Order: sequence, then C-alpha cells, then structure tokens
Amino acid sequence: MFFSKPIPLFLLSISLLCSCTVGTDDPLYHICFSPENFTSSSPYRNNLNDLLGILSTKVPPTGFGTGSSGSGQDVVYGLGLCRGDVKSDDCKTCVVDAGQELQARCPTSKGAIIWYDNCLLKYSDKNFFGKIDNKNKFHLLNVQDVDMDFMEFYQKIKDLLGVLAEKASGTPILYASGDEKLNKTSRQTLFGLAQCTRDLTAADCKTCLDHAISDLPSCCYGKRGGRTVGASCNVRYELYPFVNV
Ligand SMILES: *[C@@H]1O[C@H](CO)[C@@H](O)[C@H](O)[C@H]1NC(C)=O
Ligand SMILES: *[C@@H]1O[C@H](CO)[C@@H](O)[C@H](O)[C@H]1NC(C)=O
Repeated sequence: MFFSKPIPLFLLSISLLCSCTVGTDDPLYHICFSPENFTSSSPYRNNLNDLLGILSTKVPPTGFGTGSSGSGQDVVYGLGLCRGDVKSDDCKTCVVDAGQELQARCPTSKGAIIWYDNCLLKYSDKNFFGKIDNKNKFHLLNVQDVDMDFMEFYQKIKDLLGVLAEKASGTPILYASGDEKLNKTSRQTLFGLAQCTRDLTAADCKTCLDHAISDLPSCCYGKRGGRTVGASCNVRYELYPFVNV
C-alpha cells in the first residue's frame, strides 16, 4: 500500500445512507441479490464451494476469471476481478476472503456480490457473463468538499475519466489509471481509475464506464473523491494517489 486513506469517513449512498469507516481489507459493500434461496443439503452449496475454489486459482494470475460448476438446476456461475494494479498474491488473498465473507453474509442466496478495494466477486444461478449488470452498484464518496469551483472540478473529473474510459476499453485488460494536474497554478493533482470486468466487449466496457461517469454528480458533486462501484465496471477519482504504479 502506498498511502493510507487520509479521510477514513465515507458515505455510502444507495437508498440507505450509512456512515461507515472502511479499512483497506474490509469489504466495501455486498448485495445478496437473488430472491432464490438454496438449502444446506442442496447440491448448489457444493457447486458454489467448488466454484469459489476454481476462482481462487483462476483469478490471481491475470486478475480476472470466470467459472461455473454443476449442471441443470444447480449450476452456479461466478466471476472474480482484481483491481488492475493489484499483485497476484494480494489478488488471491482478496478473492479467497471475498468467497468466505460472501458465504457468511449471504448464506442462502443463490446470487450475491461483494466488493473490496482490491477485488470483486460475484456468483449467480443465472449465466450473467458478457452482459452489463446495471442493478448491482453503489457509490462511495469523500464527504469533504473540494476548495475550487464545483463545476470546474467536475469538468476536470469528466475529462480525466473520459480519457481513462477510452483507454481502458482499448486495452485487453480493460483497465486504465492516470492523473492530471488540476490547473497550471494549482499544485493539486487529480487521480483516476477506470476498469471493467473482462467478460465485456470493448464497446460494452465503454458504455458501462460512460454511465458510471455520468452517475458521479448524483453522489459526488463537489466532493474531493468519488466512485461508482458496479458489478461490470467502476470509476474512481481522488486528490491523492491510490493505485500502485
Ligand atoms: C429467501 O430467504 C430470504 C431471507 O431468509 C427471504 O426473505 C426470502 O423470501 C426467501 N426467498 C424465497 C423465494 O423463498
Ligand atoms: C486552479 O485551482 C485552484 C484550486 O486548486 C482554484 O482555486 C483556481 O481557481 C484554479 N485556477 C484556474 C485558472 O482555473
């Protein structure tokens, strides 16, 4: 880790507003999104365990992987993604923790997703690969206001993240990070990141990122940091460096 977060207070803005302290290794959020439950004696449980094992070996080497286990009614599909700058050891730790934590938090839900700073993990009884997930997303923000004109700041964010969205969707790993000086006189630098899950096409990645960027004002207008964190893509900006380069 480069810098610890200077401001540990984040607001989570979905329907609920929770002010939570988020440590680097704690989950950011999770959703048990499937209305369908499985029972402890169901083959789904074993298939899910099997899938989590597959993902914990498949994801770390490249930072992304999909898998499935079982057949018929009891098939389970899953996906894991680590942030583009995360090393394979840390990726593995994150994916393994994510699997355990998600099973504890959503013990009977057939579909669930969990996010960390370093990774996301999702599984479902429906094959969701290659489709943009517009439902499972949330925002995080730094509650402090920026000390410049909000509109001007938002324009900078849009410019930087727009460039990163273009760049990310043009690379095989669908990830880009970068930074930009706020202006010639300011010593402040804006840092950004854009990333998609690699089951998406380049075009869908771009679509997903564009939506994620246009969602930012609703949560984070005038704020020093903000993120749209989705199941298919995410964008983030901060006034401090947060990725390892
Ligand atoms: C699944 O379990 C949850 C929580 O226990 C419950 O609210 C929900 O109604 C259940 N769904 C079905 C389809 O039985
Ligand atoms: C440069 O940024 C500072 C804040 O960092 C702001 O107060 C100032 O108005 C900006 N200047 C220009 C020319 O945009």
